[in-house]
Amino acid sequence: MKATYHGHSVVHIETNGHHIWIDPFLNGNKHTEIKPQDVKADVILLTHGHGDHLGDTVEIAKNNDALVVAPNELAVYLSWQGVKTHPLHIGGGREFDFGKVKLTQAFHGSAVIDEESKTITYTGMPSGILFTAEGKTIYHAGDTALFSDMKLIGELNHIDLAFLPIGDNFTMGREDARMAAEWLRAKQVVPIHYSTFPPIEQDPHAFADSLHGGVGHVLNSGESIDIL
Ligand code: NI
Ligand code: MN
Repeated sequence: MKATYHGHSVVHIETNGHHIWIDPFLNGNKHTEIKPQDVKADVILLTHGHGDHLGDTVEIAKNNDALVVAPNELAVYLSWQGVKTHPLHIGGGREFDFGKVKLTQAFHGSAVIDEESKTITYTGMPSGILFTAEGKTIYHAGDTALFSDMKLIGELNHIDLAFLPIGDNFTMGREDARMAAEWLRAKQVVPIHYSTFPPIEQDPHAFADSLHGGVGHVLNSGESIDIL
């Protein structure tokens, strides 16, 4: 299984010929040049409805006839736009032909915010994602504060690779994410959700260097980790 980071919270997973995208925010993501129309996707996994996560989901899903797996309210919202969806909710998992997806809690918000019409459509609870394929597990924390049940997530799952937000302001900052990494006991930890906008400017190397056991890895946009 191969995971490629494209800045912000965008992760592209390749497993058994399936292309899986988590939180494909491309337009407006200064860390990537990839355009939605160039994305090949079989599946899109969403953590929550904020624009910097929902991103270009509708366009990519429609172009590829891709399945969108998301927390229920967000899945329903997308299904009304003609997108093929599968709803899950926190604590629930499902085996798909491309791998297993389980949603975890996240402490954050989830809404589609339309600045033009000044409307906020709440899309239920935000989530994190546990994705398992080829006997390996990836944890994408989504946007979240630190919470002590990360210890439980670490106890119940052998996490091979964790993507943790470090941007502070809207999510965990470096210090809290360092604690999260310890509790999750992930074999490798990659920082996400930083330096896309001024309030979340962070030094990812300071975070990675702060982790015990050399588990921290900064991925530049476009770089991959092969989980063997
Ligand atoms: Ni968010
Ligand atoms: Mn965000």
